[in-house]
Amino acid sequence: MIEFKDVTKTFATKQGAVHAVQDVNLSIEDGHIYGIVGYSGAGKSTLVRMLNGLETPTSGSVDIDGVEITVLTGTKLREQRHKIGMIFQHFNLLWSRTVLQNIMFPLEIAGQSKAAAQKKAEHLADLVGLAGREQAYPSELSGGQKQRVGIARALANDPQILLSDEATSALDPQTTDEVLDLLLDINKKLNLTIVLITHEMHVIRKIADHVAVMEDGKIVEQGPVLEVFKRPKQAVTKRFVNEEVTPSLHDTTAVVEQLVAKYPKGTIVQLTFHGDQAKLPIVSEMLKQYGNLDLNIIEGNIHQTQEGAIGSLYIQITGDPADIDGALAYLQKLRVETEVLNRE
Ligand SMILES: Nc1ncnc2c1ncn2[C@@H]1O[C@H](COP(=O)(O)OP(=O)(O)OP(=O)(O)O)[C@@H](O)[C@H]1O
Ligand SMILES: [Mg+2]
Repeated sequence: MIEFKDVTKTFATKQGAVHAVQDVNLSIEDGHIYGIVGYSGAGKSTLVRMLNGLETPTSGSVDIDGVEITVLTGTKLREQRHKIGMIFQHFNLLWSRTVLQNIMFPLEIAGQSKAAAQKKAEHLADLVGLAGREQAYPSELSGGQKQRVGIARALANDPQILLSDEATSALDPQTTDEVLDLLLDINKKLNLTIVLITHEMHVIRKIADHVAVMEDGKIVEQGPVLEVFKRPKQAVTKRFVNEEVTPSLHDTTAVVEQLVAKYPKGTIVQLTFHGDQAKLPIVSEMLKQYGNLDLNIIEGNIHQTQEGAIGSLYIQITGDPADIDGALAYLQKLRVETEVLNRE
């Protein structure tokens, strides 16, 4: 388990003190994939760099399995660092070395024999889907393949924790998905804790189970991904979530306005479905019960998160007000969140 307790990091610069991380309290359970999201300069990298001792806190403590990182030095610190692998946006590969030699590098530094290092590296190349490419040089690989090398190298010393700092930010969406699938796979296979920094909410949605949102060095919101997606509280979280859950929110608002103008008697409702609800024919059931209602679907989308699906549907209902009330009550009975955006 990782525990940040009242952690603050202040950099002294010529321009004055920079409060990169402020009063952070955060616990990350073993085997979890914990997302850390925030805009540039929020303090994400500084926070995770304190995990492998690349930065030391100005105050507070960072513990891994009850061991305080800050007080470790020499051999103890090196041992601790072996428990943590790290991958980066720009891969940080050695360009004059082959795939296999890149993966072997941390093993050689750790003092393993060449034969043992090679055997391990071959196994890791296989694990990350690079079998057959062991002798290639980084310049001969696609971005996704380069990141696979980065991942294999990060796993070389059998870490318990993998830190990923924007590891998919330089990749196209398809390759991003493939690399995220790989991270999810090794998280399950190796019971690896993954701390994942990103500014892309879809990365969080796809593989993280928990998320912390950072702004100005502080964690302003944290919790299970689905909860934070469902009910974002802080403005910054809402911005991230809205970008993701309703990418065309502005279009939708315009559409709603147009519909309101066109059908002033209509009732416009936003429905939010969680988990298995998103798979059920709830709306058609509602129409069967209230057969006199007319329904227009304005917009809909479903997003998969690690803890289930979240669906969002904008509908316009016209008909007898009593039937509309009945239909809305019916939806509420099925625990579908309903929000009436406009009522005649
Ligand atoms: N070594 C340093 N010396 C001085 N200031 C620093 C140092 N490292 C980071 N900072 C400052 O601390 C703040 C947080 O930086 P950090 O790199 O942690 O942000 P970030 O959330 O990772 O941003 P990005 O998304 O751009 O990577 C920034 O204002 C940054 O300029
Ligand atoms: Mg950063």
